[in-house]
Amino acid sequence: MAGNWKMNLDHVQATHLVQKLDWTLRDGKHDFAAVEVAVLPPFTDIRSVQTLVDGDRLHLKFGAQDLSAHEAGAFTGEISGQFLARLGCTYVVVGHSERREYHHESDAVVAAKLAAAYRDGLTPIFCVGEGLAVRKEGRQVEYVLAQVEAGLADVTPAQVASIVIAYEPIWAIGTGEVATPADAQEVCGAVRTRLAELYDEPTAAGIRILYGGSVKSGNVAAIMAEADVDGALVGGASIDPVEFAAICRYQSHVGAHSSSR
Ligand code: PGA
Repeated sequence: MAGNWKMNLDHVQATHLVQKLDWTLRDGKHDFAAVEVAVLPPFTDIRSVQTLVDGDRLHLKFGAQDLSAHEAGAFTGEISGQFLARLGCTYVVVGHSERREYHHESDAVVAAKLAAAYRDGLTPIFCVGEGLAVRKEGRQVEYVLAQVEAGLADVTPAQVASIVIAYEPIWAIGTGEVATPADAQEVCGAVRTRLAELYDEPTAAGIRILYGGSVKSGNVAAIMAEADVDGALVGGASIDPVEFAAICRYQSHVGAHSSSR
């Protein structure tokens, strides 16, 4: 379960959130081995989160929301994967729809950023997803598979085994408009099938595929019940530690909220 804070919470607020999240999870006897929990704060928070996680030996993982495609040099405002690795980041989000849309990141840029993440030993959370127009035309599967193939063009079999892929239909992000569990399964299942074709079955079976888009404690269990959904990339609900902890502990309320989406 990964919490994408987006551009929310400064480094002081980040410390408070991580402490409360950890405390809430421990209080609920969260099984971190069964359900990994990661936070993805803004760049300026990462050092504070690292200090807390290392100092208090927390089981939380953390990462960044983006990285530069470049290694180093004259790229004003950019953050390299090396910097993130030095701060202890495990994960980095690549190709989030907000980056694709507002920063014009093409599939080629996304592929270069995936390569940069691997170069620096980071695990990419590679985001794909269709907009409303594509969904209305019923072309979501072909659209998402094209994104997957373009992004993975240069990713080797050894690298792909560790990748995390997040299917986030754009029309469901931050809108309260959650895809149905069947919608999530349709695309996540198609992604896994294509991974098996591009690589091999065991590799595809081992890759974690997340769903993202208005995930909350009330709808997560039904989505997680789908065969090809292995986790969630959570935006808005991840900046509330009690709500995010409840999402992480979805196994304790399976069935309890199955009717509320
Ligand atoms: P949301 O965002 O949960 O607020 O819809 C998900 C995301 O953009 O990763």
